[in-house]
Amino acid sequence: MVTSIWHLVYNTKKRGVCMFETERIILRRWTLEDAEDMYAYASNPNVGPNAGWKVHQSIEESKQIIEMFLQGDEWAIVDKVTNRVIGSVGIMKDFRRRYEGSYFIGYVLAEEYWGKGIMTEAVKTMIPYVFETLHASILSVGHFTRNNRSRRVIEKCGFVYEGTYRRGYFAQTGDIHDDANYSMLDTEYKKLKEEGFFLVKM
Ligand SMILES: CC(C)(COP(=O)(O)OP(=O)(O)OC[C@H]1O[C@@H](n2cnc3c(N)ncnc32)[C@H](O)[C@@H]1OP(=O)(O)O)[C@@H](O)C(=O)NCCC(=O)NCCS
Repeated sequence: MVTSIWHLVYNTKKRGVCMFETERIILRRWTLEDAEDMYAYASNPNVGPNAGWKVHQSIEESKQIIEMFLQGDEWAIVDKVTNRVIGSVGIMKDFRRRYEGSYFIGYVLAEEYWGKGIMTEAVKTMIPYVFETLHASILSVGHFTRNNRSRRVIEKCGFVYEGTYRRGYFAQTGDIHDDANYSMLDTEYKKLKEEGFFLVKM
């Protein structure tokens, strides 16, 4: 449950907003020093394949992924108690819509943290960033139909179900998945924000 998101404050010369802080987590930019923490969760076969990517085989591979993340809009989720990176949230161009202002959000979390509402907290923090800072007109998200945990995160974050592409996602693992799709329009975001849904000031 999201109780009190304090809100982010930092600006950097280079990349604009660089950190969000909530009750339990910090969302910040990745560094190469995070490779060991990434590997700890990304080497677990229950994590990546549920998001469509392959299990990491080495810390070096995690490092290469972080190098790629540094080129994009990717956020490390840090547990405030341990100060370890426990997952990630990424904002990408929506590969199905492809027009300016259309974004897609993806996420993964270390298995030992599942079921505590952490990803819902993280995604509810990132949604205002996407609409207020990136000026999105639409934010989309999806899950493989068997991934009910992710379905619940999406529902709890206020996204609207669009439909399912049957055998619609050809994953890195070589598997083909039924892909359930959801989105939030800027107008829907505004309404939810007015209702106090996000508890984040930007
Ligand atoms: C999907 C994932 C991000 C969820 O993160 P999380 O922090 O556990 O999510 P939350 O705790 O906010 O919510 C999980 C919901 O799933 C529910 N849930 C837990 N176990 C479940 C199960 N076996 N089947 C169905 N739902 C389940 C929880 O009860 C909770 O819903 P509720 O609040 O209505 O009770 C995490 O499981 C994960 O990283 N999985 C592997 C990668 C992945 O699937 N990424 C998403 C790709 S679309």
